[in-house]
Amino acid sequence: MAVVSSSVEGVRQKNFRFRCIGCSSLSDAAGQDFRCGKCGDLLEITYPCWKESRPDPGSLKSAWKSRKLSSYPADLSGVWRFRDLLPAVEDEAQVITLREGNTPLYELPQCARITGVPRLFAKHQGMNPTGSFKDAGMTVAATFARTAGFRWVACASTGNTSASMAAYAARGGMRGLVLVPEGKISWSKLSQALDYGAVTCQLRTDFDGCLRLLQDLVRQAPVYQLNSINPFRLEGQKTLALELLEQFDWAPPDHIIVPGGNLGNSSAIGKALLEMHELGLISRLPKLSVIQAEGANALVRSVREAGGKRLISVAPETRATAIRIGNPASWKKAVHVLEATRGACEQVSEVEIARAKAEIGAEGIGCEPASAVTLAGLKKLVKHGFVKPDESVVLVLTGNLLKDPDFTIGFHRGEMFGEEENTALVALRHAPIVLDASLDAVIQTLERFN
Ligand code: F0G
Repeated sequence: MAVVSSSVEGVRQKNFRFRCIGCSSLSDAAGQDFRCGKCGDLLEITYPCWKESRPDPGSLKSAWKSRKLSSYPADLSGVWRFRDLLPAVEDEAQVITLREGNTPLYELPQCARITGVPRLFAKHQGMNPTGSFKDAGMTVAATFARTAGFRWVACASTGNTSASMAAYAARGGMRGLVLVPEGKISWSKLSQALDYGAVTCQLRTDFDGCLRLLQDLVRQAPVYQLNSINPFRLEGQKTLALELLEQFDWAPPDHIIVPGGNLGNSSAIGKALLEMHELGLISRLPKLSVIQAEGANALVRSVREAGGKRLISVAPETRATAIRIGNPASWKKAVHVLEATRGACEQVSEVEIARAKAEIGAEGIGCEPASAVTLAGLKKLVKHGFVKPDESVVLVLTGNLLKDPDFTIGFHRGEMFGEEENTALVALRHAPIVLDASLDAVIQTLERFN
């Protein structure tokens, strides 16, 4: 079979349709809100052509491997290297890429000892060009925004989406409009959006309020929304799972654990797993589990109290600002992938998040607070017997340590919690030490820690 569905390298025919996740209606075009014209549910991208000519798993795997040696721009991207399972861009020269993806898989030996799960790994999406997993989705959605002729792209964000969108808009010659909750996103993320030249509005509301306003805006102005409601974003984010399985030589781990906020990423990873299984790229499905902060636990409550049948919104509060979301847009997609992969959802406290973040930091890797919910959640899943000690587990670390220095410094200085918690965390805290600039003072400090 032809791995790339084209006769001329770089030119591909349209290979996808939109499908409503509620009523399954198919369409060739999507409105600005990416919702079904019939029932109002969210749309996803589907590939009817796979039924007509099923891609061959062996050919796909070897094509993806050989592209690693290529210098063709789309092959240098860890997202577009997997373009056979992505919506086809008519002219691949139009792809907006920052060489996203290609992120490392690390072993976590110390965290493995702490959790009692020896085969523990981190897929570090914080090693993407703008420091978060958002880049994998943004390269695809920004490319489609530009090929559709949009001059303006926009997003609501807890910080990482805005940083990523601003970067890809700038690279693609588009204007970016960012809506963020005032005072509720980290300075690092805000500074990225400013530096990449986006028009950045700090709204006096929370993330959910920003997203609502964006929905109204795109109905009235020629602005293309790049939130994860946009199904092109999720197609790009699928490649995290493709790359991960390739790193495992296509032998699936038992568990993949991911943080949950607006629930786009869990939906994307789940969609990728289901598609890989359907296409015969993997022989069994890993269980995909989603972890939320206790103060922003809409999915956990919806599953526990309503059997995943309706969304229970919450008024979100957590220091892990990236996932400070009370009304997750992709909750139905996430419930579907939890059920289909037989995964779990769990919630963790602020102290558990801070501890887990320091433990990941102590591995020499580090991540932002929202990513650390995965390790904190794993401890609970092990305790409840859902994860067995002989199983292999991958934590998806979604953001870079440098994304939220205020959190990290506050933790190490002991400014975050009360005395009791600080004492319990003392072995993990490394406060900076202010000294006179004398050799004696430094040597005494060295001896104190010896
Ligand atoms: N981890 C990080 C570091 C994030 O930035 C986000 C979401 C998540 C996890 C949750 O992913 O929303 O797909 O469930 N950040 C979004 C933003 C909302 O605007 O940057 P999700």
